Amino acid sequence: MIDLNERLVFFATAAKGTEGALRDELRQLRLRRIRADRGGVHFEGNRADGWRACLHSRIALRILQQLGTFTAVGSDGLYQAVRQINWALYLNPEVTVAVTSYCKDSVLTHTNYIAQVVKDAIVDQQRERLGQRPSVDRKDPDVHVFVHLVANELTIYLDLAGESLHRRGYRAEALAAPLKENLAAAILRLAKWDPETPFIDPMCGSGTLAIEAALRACNVAPGLLRPKMGFERWASFSKQEASVMAEMRAQAKAAVREAPAPIMAMDIDPQAVELTLANAKLAGVKLAHAVQPLDKLALGTGPGLIAMNPPYGRRLAADSSLYNDIARLIARRRHWTVAVLAGDRSIERALPKATRWQGVFNGDLDSRVLMFES
Ligand SMILES: C[S@@+](CC[C@H](N)C(=O)[O-])C[C@H]1O[C@@H](n2cnc3c(N)ncnc32)[C@H](O)[C@@H]1O
Repeated sequence: MIDLNERLVFFATAAKGTEGALRDELRQLRLRRIRADRGGVHFEGNRADGWRACLHSRIALRILQQLGTFTAVGSDGLYQAVRQINWALYLNPEVTVAVTSYCKDSVLTHTNYIAQVVKDAIVDQQRERLGQRPSVDRKDPDVHVFVHLVANELTIYLDLAGESLHRRGYRAEALAAPLKENLAAAILRLAKWDPETPFIDPMCGSGTLAIEAALRACNVAPGLLRPKMGFERWASFSKQEASVMAEMRAQAKAAVREAPAPIMAMDIDPQAVELTLANAKLAGVKLAHAVQPLDKLALGTGPGLIAMNPPYGRRLAADSSLYNDIARLIARRRHWTVAVLAGDRSIERALPKATRWQGVFNGDLDSRVLMFES
């Protein structure tokens, strides 16, 4: 029997450099005992608090629910540790499972091998207790187990959503070099954007920044775009839990509103604007839009946020006249904040000195969010 009020420990994972932004977001969600760490943010709460983070976080990649921590030396230690969990709480032979592992500074060094031992321990326990074993589905498991083995200390987690939360489902297609949705959301928070004020992405590409801005301005919880969360497929998921989750979704839906200020997406490439609008439609948001070059951008008095992800050398052909246009836009920003995701240092050299910056990883690209405040 699952206790709905049981105190649980969670770890929300984040793209490198966005941990602080995620901590601020989880604070706003009024989660407790929040602590930023490398690669994510720890928090505590009851079961529904973990679900709330899944439904509302725009920046987290995964919400992991901790099942236990053990000392686990070698394969035997690992196997025995995993068997200490009562897997019948989450699994039965009809439910599929997958294991993802991470390891560092331990006797065991191969993540695939670790995942195999963990899987064996889980299915052996199920077979002994129930006479049958669950099957493995690596692509779309019902229960996604994560294990971290660091210095022979094992932490076992379940991934609440089951897959990465950045996959919101609104990006049917992307042009070259799209941003991940969770990084776009982190940029908005890093730039301290007030969603009551306007937003402009003057080089929108497939529209990720503008769509994330619109979702936030309209109070659309990103999890509402997802028909089902992973934990709703666990064997233990009860009718009582389903009604708690239904109520949480209904409350999130009731909070949806019209955007209080315009959210604008522009690009020099008509195809990009077309794609942005198609993606916005899938996300259920409306954007003001125009096909126009950055140097033609007319600014109202502000305040508001202009955020962009210009092309740069390693991913797209860099263009110094474009960087000069960005520098001129920064010079005339007045009450607007400008945030530029710079993928290489050549962009930084062409721009004035940022008032603040934050290092982030855009996929595997070591990048910086440069912020020019008024
Ligand atoms: C790296 S992509 C943006 C990707 C976008 N953030 C996404 O998530 O899909 C850069 C975009 O800048 C646009 N661009 C290049 N030069 C421009 C200019 N002078 N004015 C406006 N847009 C421009 C390109 O057409 C391209 O769509």
